[in-house]
Amino acid sequence: MRNSDMKSLWLLVVLVMSVLVLEHGHKMVGAEDCEEEIRGFTIECMYYMSNDSQSLVNPNARCCKVITDAYPTLSCWCNSLSRKVVFPPGASVGETLNWRRIMHCFSYCNVPLPAGYQCWKFTVPAHPPRKALP
Ligand SMILES: *[C@@H]1O[C@H](CO)[C@@H](O)[C@H](O)[C@H]1NC(C)=O
Repeated sequence: MRNSDMKSLWLLVVLVMSVLVLEHGHKMVGAEDCEEEIRGFTIECMYYMSNDSQSLVNPNARCCKVITDAYPTLSCWCNSLSRKVVFPPGASVGETLNWRRIMHCFSYCNVPLPAGYQCWKFTVPAHPPRKALP
């Protein structure tokens, strides 16, 4: 009798743990479920956001659509910026971007990033830096 009680208890423990693991797995998938938006940023917006150039270029309509579509779930894209890039070795996507250019793109597309908003390791300043005066 005691022995079978123990067996049932173990079965219950295993069952509960399996459910917890599954739940956790689902949540992880849900939290990172913006692959389409990430692809959109990479394909349509990299030209305007990468640190390869320092100049503020107005994004085209396709990049603006990516930005406005991703805006409601932006934290998902922000989290993806920790992903590593092939070059330079060891760098993450976020480190290859220029945040002044990113802020310019969002503002230009009429969905400016709010002051204090944290995107990956970047925090939007209260007063976005202006172009230096000559
Ligand atoms: C961006 O480019 C500038 C100029 O080339 C460089 O000094 C800076 O370190 C770069 N920033 C990042 C995050 O790569």
